[in-house]
Amino acid sequence: MDHPLTRDTTPAVAAGPAERRRRPVGLPALAYGGDYNPEQWPEEVWEEDVRLMREAGVTMVSVGIFSWALLETAPGEYDFGWLDRLLDLLHAGGIRVDLGTPTVVPPAWFYRRHPEALPVTREGVRLEAGSRGAICHSSPAYQDAAAAITEQLARRYGDHPALAMWHVHNEYGVPVSACYCDTSAEHFRRWLRRRYTDLDELNEAWGTAFWGQRYGAWEEIRPPRLTPTAGNPAQQLDWARFTSDALLDNFRRERDVLHRLSPGIPVTTNFMTALSQCESLDYWAWGREVDIVANDHYLVAEAPRNHINLAMSADLTRSVAGGRPWLLLEHSTGAVNWQPRNLPKQPGEMARNSLTHIARGSDGAMFFQWRASRYGAEKFHSAMLPHAGTDSRIWREVVALGASVGALGSVRDSRVVSDAAVLWDWQSWWAQKLEWRPSVELDARAQADAWYAAAWDRHLTVDFAHPEADLSGYPLVLVPALYLMTGAASRNLRRYVETGGTLAVGHFSGIVDEHDTVHPGPYPGALRDVLGLTVEEFAPLPAGRGIRLTGPGGDLTAASWSEFVVARGADPQWTYADGPTAGHPAVTRHALGGGSAWYVSTRLDEAGLDAVLGRVCADAGLPERALPRDVEVVERVGELGRYLFAVNHSGTDARIPLPGDGMELLTGLLVGGVLDVPAGGVRVVHL
Ligand code: GLA
Repeated sequence: MDHPLTRDTTPAVAAGPAERRRRPVGLPALAYGGDYNPEQWPEEVWEEDVRLMREAGVTMVSVGIFSWALLETAPGEYDFGWLDRLLDLLHAGGIRVDLGTPTVVPPAWFYRRHPEALPVTREGVRLEAGSRGAICHSSPAYQDAAAAITEQLARRYGDHPALAMWHVHNEYGVPVSACYCDTSAEHFRRWLRRRYTDLDELNEAWGTAFWGQRYGAWEEIRPPRLTPTAGNPAQQLDWARFTSDALLDNFRRERDVLHRLSPGIPVTTNFMTALSQCESLDYWAWGREVDIVANDHYLVAEAPRNHINLAMSADLTRSVAGGRPWLLLEHSTGAVNWQPRNLPKQPGEMARNSLTHIARGSDGAMFFQWRASRYGAEKFHSAMLPHAGTDSRIWREVVALGASVGALGSVRDSRVVSDAAVLWDWQSWWAQKLEWRPSVELDARAQADAWYAAAWDRHLTVDFAHPEADLSGYPLVLVPALYLMTGAASRNLRRYVETGGTLAVGHFSGIVDEHDTVHPGPYPGALRDVLGLTVEEFAPLPAGRGIRLTGPGGDLTAASWSEFVVARGADPQWTYADGPTAGHPAVTRHALGGGSAWYVSTRLDEAGLDAVLGRVCADAGLPERALPRDVEVVERVGELGRYLFAVNHSGTDARIPLPGDGMELLTGLLVGGVLDVPAGGVRVVHL
């Protein structure tokens, strides 16, 4: 099997304090465990918890995430006794602690004093306390109170022997990210004053000449609250950027307290990179600020082939971590409680999920949560220790998975080997999602999902990259949907192709700049030269209408979108056979410098995308991988060697070629030449 090394996979050498903080302290192998909420149980139960954690091979638990009200019982009055006893107990049991700062749920006394810290929706409704995450992130009272409890925790536990890492807040950005109150409005204006030198620059960037929206004083600017009809898109885009930045500032505030008072201990917060799960954070910016990138991932239980979404989220997380190992902080052992129908996982599915995350760069697998709650909103959520207790399928699978994760200790710190890059930009996504686009079926996320799935089906391992990132190490770069493209990104892609890269771009990309202003000249302004074409007019299709493309190897089918493409240097590969743009090029290839740039001007179905991607991969010199469908093969490479992970999501036993001999780590058997992966099973070969 050919997995060319396309990137430098040399493990980072441990150097300064920042580098030392890249992994949980005192954890000898991979992390295995989950969120642990012992405050929901009498202390007698804790002893049993630790005993069972050891039985299951748990190495680390996350505690204290929702405990503010129990730790600071009244303003400035603290009760740390229970947490002292808990940490000591865990330490005695050899379980490491990922300690939460509980700042996602301020106590009731806080809201009584500061009702203004409750968030206001775009419609002007102030949300109530009594759930979680009801926070105006611009509230000085909230910021001060969060810093104060963080400081208390850092002083008390900053050098506790059980402490492995700090877990700030919980899932910034959900369930609420933006607050539209007057305090937030003032904060937004301060942010804008830093972004724009003066009001003239802002008026121009926001295109306020349109509909007479010009501002004559900073004080006139407000958040993009509910308006009678479509609001100013550039204002909304800046608001989205401001929101991500405002939350990131609050993360940094806590992180800096922890770095100061608990030096050497890594600080993280749990991301939700799956594009369906958190939309409001620019994780490219966030990834630079955490010591360890951590992620939570939940399958959409009813979605077909949902393991592809899992792989995508894992790849995106690793990419946000700059290719370094990251940590899966939450997923589920079985059903969640918040989907319309909460289907259980199939036998073996949990292990496939966990081990796929590890295959794709996670140095562990953690869950929400350790012991199922008896009360509260999440009592029907699965756990490592379910309501059914230890005489249950889930528990037996949890214990077996603990042994598997334990057998993979040497994988730690190794890096995933990738074949190609997919460009993704949260800011472009935010811009494209705004109202009044040429078709409601333009959906950047759906495009990214479809292109990722096509690459996954061809057994390509991809990294994600920011459009302005260095792409020189990749033979192939895919751009499913980048509506917004800066001048720097445009120059980056041109340089990439001219120096020999193969680029493939999806429709409605390169249209506007960072202010949602259309690039001058014919579409796609940021990509015309590199693609060797212009688009004279968009031609979205009526709902449900399919069109045909003719070209090499037979017709392809597409839907929802077409374009009047005019080749200006590019060679048409497939042509529209019917629909409004019949006779125009549909898929093109432009030879430029040492490379080539492909354009796909419509939304191809699965077979169509596969056919085009096959040609694009051949152009990039990527080999066809003759592997069975729904068998996922990923490699990690480190100082101790190469690790080949094979995950069989299909219902049939599979046999795959091996590039050498090695030890299968989950069975302890020697293997060579070929590897048998049973239906639904996972194998990990240390080559
Ligand atoms: C999120 C949260 C957890 C829990 C789970 C349930 O990931 O971080 O606290 O609510 O969802 O799936």
